[in-house]
Amino acid sequence: MHTKDINYNEAQIQTYILPDVLTFADHIPVTDATAWRHRRQEILDLFVHHVYGRLPGRPAAMSSAVTSMDMAALDGRAVRKEVTVRFTADKDGPQMHILMYLPPVAPRPVPVFMGLNFLGNHTLHSDPGITLSKAWVWGTAEMGVENNRATEAARGTAASRWPVERVLERGYALASIYCGDLDPDFHDGFQNGVHTLFPRDDTVGDAWGTIGAWAWGLSRAMDYFETDADLDAKRVAVMGHSRLGKTALWAGAMDERFALVISNNSGCGGAALSRRHFGETVKAINDRFPHWFCTNFKQYNDNEDALPVDQHQLLALIAPRPLYVASAEEDLWSDPRGEFLSAHHASAVYQFLGTEGLPADEMPGLNQPVMGCIGYHIRPGKHDVLPYDWERFMDFADLHL
Ligand code: GCU
Repeated sequence: MHTKDINYNEAQIQTYILPDVLTFADHIPVTDATAWRHRRQEILDLFVHHVYGRLPGRPAAMSSAVTSMDMAALDGRAVRKEVTVRFTADKDGPQMHILMYLPPVAPRPVPVFMGLNFLGNHTLHSDPGITLSKAWVWGTAEMGVENNRATEAARGTAASRWPVERVLERGYALASIYCGDLDPDFHDGFQNGVHTLFPRDDTVGDAWGTIGAWAWGLSRAMDYFETDADLDAKRVAVMGHSRLGKTALWAGAMDERFALVISNNSGCGGAALSRRHFGETVKAINDRFPHWFCTNFKQYNDNEDALPVDQHQLLALIAPRPLYVASAEEDLWSDPRGEFLSAHHASAVYQFLGTEGLPADEMPGLNQPVMGCIGYHIRPGKHDVLPYDWERFMDFADLHL
């Protein structure tokens, strides 16, 4: 996996030139906020066409239904609610299940942390009231997965990544969806998940992949939040770790209803600059995960300099909304410095729009978060989501939501 072509040496990085975020492709500079809206659209179109693929809209027949509600979950510390969103009129058709925990006493509507999860809603907490996912899931017997189906033993296996009680104590609701409800994370020629809802033209290089499908699901969750009087759809922070961090960034870039966007260790195809060619590269990611991005992205395997965009521009699409990027010291595969530099270069747009941007020109030390309208931290340890990360995300949300 970590082949000899992977560079972990800062001194070996070749000189690169990043596309300027405030200059149009035809070299005209962006001079005012109106021009930025046009440039923003130009950049968005480039990401659609060359990286993530084109997304369909909201299905006309989409509907939602509350499937469970417990006003005294977690020993009275939470309201737990589950909602099924169906994308067609067929009750057995493609659907996603949103798990929500709300603080019992906080004034309504409450701000929300929203994130996709890797292995099923039931992995977030040992709470026996969470419906066990029936979807295909990757996993081993030790993880409570047998023949790609979750068993009772899977409950709470991802709880260390989801400090539910802390989020509620701090006055936020937490909502999550199993990413596999939208698209299982394996390459099947897009024969399952929400791809089947829309006709697919494989001859076009910008047909959507799995990250596109996951991001689409986040927007459909936002559609639901807009109908739920308990949740404040104007104060939704979308958060994701790793592949789901790439997804949170892409969803937040496309859908301006997300008020705050958080990337945790999102790395290549997420926050990290592709042109640094440090840690995971475009080729490495396309070879191992051919279904994540659109086909056009493969043209940039070992050819990052030809990309018409780099990932700082993805971050800039979130401006002027608050954005937080988190790295982990030992997570070199995700290129922590590349994640920082990306936030640093995106800052130009934030400043141009009159916000503070990222208040750091140099990468801060471990556990020294910086928080302007862009926030950043690097903490010791591995590729993961730790309580430390969540506390900083909530500090940042307290400042902005
Ligand atoms: C792999 C992949 C990364 C991804 C990570 C994850 O390591 O190469 O791009 O971020 O999985 O999602 O955990």
